[in-house]
Amino acid sequence: MKNIWLDSDPGIDDAVAFAMAAASSDELNVLGITAVSGNQSSDRVTRNALRLSAMLGMDDVPVVRGAREPLIKKVADAAEFHGESGLGHFTAPATAKTVAAKNGLLYMAVSILSLPAEQKVTLVPTGPLTDIALLLKTFPDVRERIERIVFMGGSSIGGNVTDKAEFNIWADPDAAQIVLHSGIPTVMCGLDITLQCGLTKPQIAALLADTDPIKNAYGQMLSFYANVPGNEEEPLVAIHDAVTIIYLTHPELFGGKFVTVDVDCGKGAGNGETICTDAHIDADNAVYMLNEVDLPAFQRVLLGKLDTLKG
Ligand code: BDR
Ligand code: CA
Repeated sequence: MKNIWLDSDPGIDDAVAFAMAAASSDELNVLGITAVSGNQSSDRVTRNALRLSAMLGMDDVPVVRGAREPLIKKVADAAEFHGESGLGHFTAPATAKTVAAKNGLLYMAVSILSLPAEQKVTLVPTGPLTDIALLLKTFPDVRERIERIVFMGGSSIGGNVTDKAEFNIWADPDAAQIVLHSGIPTVMCGLDITLQCGLTKPQIAALLADTDPIKNAYGQMLSFYANVPGNEEEPLVAIHDAVTIIYLTHPELFGGKFVTVDVDCGKGAGNGETICTDAHIDADNAVYMLNEVDLPAFQRVLLGKLDTLKG
């Protein structure tokens, strides 16, 4: 059993990552969830994390609020892609579940430090890396309890929010630079892989037509996502954040290579770009960047996991 911590900004594809984690409870033990401001405001992503985790049967998984804004940059959301609520037109069922603690990062640090001595945690960030950077800087003892970081973000093939930058890194480049130079083993699920990992529009339409409440909920969220700018013309709707969890449970579906990553934290047009090189790998800061996938198998795993979550 692998301990994981989800740090996310739900967000439609974050919601799919939640479902993948909920459906993998025989392999993954979700210690907790931090909701970081990103796709939507801190209030909205925290509400979505509470509601989605309850909807998916993760009632006993603590949810806490993470950072409300990036380290240095001004906060900017992605409402254009996830809607005003963060979940498109889907209204997640209300829940009595409330945040597990007032100070989310302290709670996260204490939870990790309280693990039995022989256990570690894999951090799974699917939003801006603000919480992870703050955790590493504020609670340095946590570092040795982190097995690795498997995150969604970055790109070596151009961006999705600017020509050069991917959203999660662009939203908090300074945090990303800290995390990517932390020396902790890291797997990057950037656009190089996530743009290859998606569902087709007929697959999404089939979810929407399903009477099972969970599959129908994902059909509603993903139908919105399939029609946002950038996705409407594409035959494959990238489900970026789900790649992190599917990589953890099915690493054999993916290929990648080691790179060293520098984040452009300047004020120019390249702000938020991840500059990836495999020419001079800095052994202390090597990042394993995924760039190959068996797409039919990925789709089978994603839909199969959703299928196990009967509402
Ligand atoms: C990333 O940006 C967000 O909008 C998504 O949730 C995903 O984490 C993709 O670039
Ligand atoms: Ca996200």
